Amino acid sequence: MKRISIVFGTRPEAIKMAPVIQQLRKVEEFEVSVCFTGQHKEMVLPLIDFFDLKIDSMLDVMQPNQSLATLTSTLVRELDSYVASFKPDIVLVQGDTTTAFCAALVSFYRKIKVGHIEAGLRTHTIDSPFPEEFNRQVIGKVTAFHFVPTNVAKRNLLDEGVPSESIYLTGNTVIDALQFAVKKIDTNSDSYKVEFDWLKADTKMVLITGHRRENFGVGFENICKAISTLAQNNPDCLFVYPVHLNPNVQEPVNRILNGLQNIKLIPPADYISFTQLMEKSFFILTDSGGVQEEAPSLNKPILVMRESTERMEVVDAGAAVLVGTDPVRIVNYAQKLINDDKFYKSMANVANPYGNGKAAEEIASILLKNL
Ligand code: UD1
Ligand code: UDP
Repeated sequence: MKRISIVFGTRPEAIKMAPVIQQLRKVEEFEVSVCFTGQHKEMVLPLIDFFDLKIDSMLDVMQPNQSLATLTSTLVRELDSYVASFKPDIVLVQGDTTTAFCAALVSFYRKIKVGHIEAGLRTHTIDSPFPEEFNRQVIGKVTAFHFVPTNVAKRNLLDEGVPSESIYLTGNTVIDALQFAVKKIDTNSDSYKVEFDWLKADTKMVLITGHRRENFGVGFENICKAISTLAQNNPDCLFVYPVHLNPNVQEPVNRILNGLQNIKLIPPADYISFTQLMEKSFFILTDSGGVQEEAPSLNKPILVMRESTERMEVVDAGAAVLVGTDPVRIVNYAQKLINDDKFYKSMANVANPYGNGKAAEEIASILLKNL
């Protein structure tokens, strides 16, 4: 019996780990322990219910607006105790958060194998995204099983000298999660269908998310100015923004955008609601990693409000434009999507480069054969 520990702490990790947890729990040869660090609270608890994730170890590390150093030191201490008591053969981490970084670090210190899901993403600019690029590079150094979403990610690791036999091309588990949610919506429409009574069927709705640390300050001021300009120039469109709970996001967004007639600021949406908002949207303005991966599956164009992205596959495929945080560029591209039908259609009908929804199954079978 192999002992597998799965650690997650934030919203995207919960969504992307959920299919992996579901698959690994089906394998009799595995004893699975799931540790939720509590790096996020309100934004993750509904996901634990929705995906029916049974948590074996619940840590409680979130403090309002805490520094990265405080978060890191608390996580290292708490995760070390968790790993010491479960004694896993492998610790699985996802992506590039502080939770993932700390879980990989304590596993390395204790000479426990690490499996990295969504491995190999790179901008090659150490502070963009911040601190995620650093986190994922360091995780890569101590990983035994690199589960990469695409060939681009595989190439990145090979270029860093990672042995090819430790790299497994699986696709991204976010597609598995999205398909799970879409199926729930389609097959249980009464229980899962959310009524957005403020959204008229014929209104063009632009969905917005934004939370990246490297955009805090001037970047966010610019993003909000662009949204405000777009709302004033397009009174027949509705701009819907589920606002991330980070106080550095809440402050500028509420100060600049609250009260404008066709802008709707709402709390972070649970996954089933957010999936329906994506489905109902005309296009999406975002700096989110996960949303860049999901949107092509729903045929939604994306404008990426970041200076660089580690998800160039979606840009190269033609479903996303990297618009950065310059308000003129954001407004111009958004206006083009609103006015130019041909441009819109060229971005809306693109095959998703991030997988086919079988990534978690693949990860489970690789671990069964190789652990
Ligand atoms: C974190 C990740 C980022 C990921 C993002 C997903 C790090 C360093 N950053 O950023 O990679 O893209 O999550 O959303 O790991 N808060 C709440 N309730 C919540 C969640 C957050 O109140 O449920 C507030 C707290 O004040 C918290 C702050 O947001 O201190 C920041 O949370 P933190 O996890 O440190 O960073 P994020 O910006 O959420
Ligand atoms: N998401 C959600 N509710 C929201 C906004 C996003 O459920 O209000 C989902 C989204 O579908 C995606 C994930 O959260 O799967 C992305 O998380 P986030 O943008 O916080 O982090 P990132 O992917 O940038 O690390």
